[in-house]
This record gives sequence, structure tokens and C-alpha cells, in this order.
Amino acid sequence: MTKRVAILISGGGSNMVSLVKSMTGDHPARPVLVLSNNPDCSGLAKARDLGVETAAVDHRQFGKDRAAFEAAMNVHLDAVDLDMICLAGFMRILTADFTAKWGGRMLNIHPSLLPKYQGLNTYNRAIEAGDKTAGCTVHEVTAELDAGPILGQAEVPILDGDTADTLAARILIEEHKLYPAVLRQYAVGDRTPIKIG
Ligand code: GRF
Repeated sequence: MTKRVAILISGGGSNMVSLVKSMTGDHPARPVLVLSNNPDCSGLAKARDLGVETAAVDHRQFGKDRAAFEAAMNVHLDAVDLDMICLAGFMRILTADFTAKWGGRMLNIHPSLLPKYQGLNTYNRAIEAGDKTAGCTVHEVTAELDAGPILGQAEVPILDGDTADTLAARILIEEHKLYPAVLRQYAVGDRTPIKIG
């Protein structure tokens, strides 16, 4: 049975594009919805151009009421009969109720070699720590931010003179390889961690 996947985004959606483009041919999954908390983000137009259904739930309309925001997202997610969710540059913190509802079927990509540098500003933190390598991690989403079981990592060198921008660009190239590779496995129930680099 083909797995039905929703991808949640907040911005440019380059990871979403790489995931959508990977889900063709004999791939075990198909994209059925791209959902954003930002109705104006450029990723939504990219998803439409790729022929994927889109929806937006503007978190700003819900103030501090995260549960109401998530309930509105769940209306869209439940309507498409999902098997899995991929968070791809989705920049809202999720409640424990949401992560429990989708637990065991929700992935995220984070731009660090977890467990190092959970949260934001990962590139500068790695550079300032004097790390020799940085990278990205795909993990299952649990109630604790950026802390679920690790399903894959890609490593890149930190070069002399790297800035957050140059390092982010180098890591993003690897994100676009790692996330589709993990999704392809995960969609058939294979959680063997993937290593790239
Ligand atoms: C990626 O670096 C992702 O790891 C981070 O936000 C960025 C999203 O980029 N959480 P895009 O929207 O997929 O282009």
C-alpha cells in the first residue's frame, strides 16, 4: 500500500521540493498535501507547481493558543487520510498532544548533528564551538524538541572562514539527499539509521 504523506513547511520549501520529487515511480509513498503556517511562503507556490494540493493555517490568527492552531491544522491533515507527516523547515513548536497524535509517523529534519545544537542558530553555535564538522539529522518527532530517535545523519566539514550562511548552504545540499533517503526507508517500516558523508 502506498503511504500518503503530508509535508509541513514555513518558508522556501527546498526540502519539500526534494521530498516531492523523490516520490515517483516505485517509491513507496506519495505526497498528498503541503501545509504551511505561513500563507505567503514561497514553498506553497512551489508545491502547487509540482501538482500537490496545498493548504495554509496562519498561526498568527490563533495568538498564543497553540492547541487551537493545531486543531485547525488537524482538520486539513485528517481530511487527506494520512499515513505520515514530514516536517520540512516547519518553524512552529508543536504541543505534546499534536506529537502524540502523529507519533511514530512524523519525521523532522534539523540542521545539526543531533544531539548537538537542538533549537535555533545551529550553524553559528557549531562554528563558535570550534567543531570540525557539522551536518543535518532526520529524526522521529516526539514531545521533546529535536530529540526523537535519529533515522539518519549527513556530515559536512566546517571550513576555515565559514560563516553561518556558507555552512548552511553546504548542509542544505546534504539535507536534500538525506531526507528523501530516510523517507524511502521509513515508508516501508525500515528505521535503520542512514549515514552520509
Ligand atoms: C532547513 O535548513 C531545515 O533543516 C531547517 O530549515 C531549513 C528549511 O529550508 N529546519 P527549506 O524551507 O526546506 O528550504
